[in-house]
Amino acid sequence: MLDKIDALYEKFKTDINSVSKQADVLNLKSEVIGKKGSLSEILKSLKDATPEERKAIGPKSNQVKSEIEKLTQKKLQEIELIEINEKLAKNKIDFSLRNSMLERGLVAGGEHPVHQIQREVEDIFTSMGFDVLDGPHIEDDWHNFGALNIPETHPARDMQDTFWFKDMKHLLRTHTSTIQVRGMESRKPPFKFVGPGKVFRCERTDTTHEMCFHQLEGMMVGKDITVGNLIYFMKTLLKEIFKKDMEVRLRPGFFPFVEPGFELDIRWKKPGPGESKHSGWLELLPCGMVHPNVLRAGGIDPDEYNGFAFGLGLDRLVMVRYAIEDIRHLHSGDLRFNKQFAKF
Ligand code: DAH
Repeated sequence: MLDKIDALYEKFKTDINSVSKQADVLNLKSEVIGKKGSLSEILKSLKDATPEERKAIGPKSNQVKSEIEKLTQKKLQEIELIEINEKLAKNKIDFSLRNSMLERGLVAGGEHPVHQIQREVEDIFTSMGFDVLDGPHIEDDWHNFGALNIPETHPARDMQDTFWFKDMKHLLRTHTSTIQVRGMESRKPPFKFVGPGKVFRCERTDTTHEMCFHQLEGMMVGKDITVGNLIYFMKTLLKEIFKKDMEVRLRPGFFPFVEPGFELDIRWKKPGPGESKHSGWLELLPCGMVHPNVLRAGGIDPDEYNGFAFGLGLDRLVMVRYAIEDIRHLHSGDLRFNKQFAKF
């Protein structure tokens, strides 16, 4: 009987090599170790066996059963793998494609340097407790001018060449100061927020002017806010951006929505040869203490609260950081330019 079991096992080992479908493998297995399989047949004649044989047959048949189980599982896995590979070949899925794309430089898009700097500045301000607000590109007269203490007759309107809509009531916002107005409308003091975004001016373009560029507006309103607070936040921002303490100076500057208004300049050395020739003060950040009329227009009592505001030019910041000489590169869509800033 033991020989018969051995022979049956040997036969199974050869037979399993000749099948290639999972169903055939399972049939083969049940033909041998299934309820009505050949092993059960052999075991039926156990009663005729000698006592020694009987002792050996139990362990033997168990061992053969488990070997056959193992071989079956192994074969099923092999078949599954072959089937997957056949499917992949048929559907032409090429996993090496991604690598070859990377080698050819065809990578996923990266973030534009203006966006990168915008996120950095947002992070710096949120870490100091500022909210980040958004506002529409298409604005009305009130949010772009009126509420900012720039009445219709005010000469400041000439400072900003505006893209007006035909109705002459709507316009493409000329600055992110509109977000100051919307921020005041939507919250109660004390508050502090920044508002980044695109702004539009109907201007002839040159190395420092574009029709569409990016600003980040900032506003802090509370009790007893001083120019000292303003300088502290601006210096912290610049230190984080340029990774070192920056020397700054405030010059008087006129903007109808702040009183007093300032131009904040940084001491800047242009990198490259002839450094000293290019060092000097660079106008970077107009700012000031919020005009009482602006607070009033935003529904805030200027006798109780005051604050500061600033308008940071993000494109200018990118140009300073990377020593880019022409703002038009930023909007050129030239991948040779953009790729230099991709972070992968
Ligand atoms: N909105 C001004 C502009 O685009 C920039 C500006 C100046 C914003 C002074 C401010 C500020 O918040 O206080 O020319």
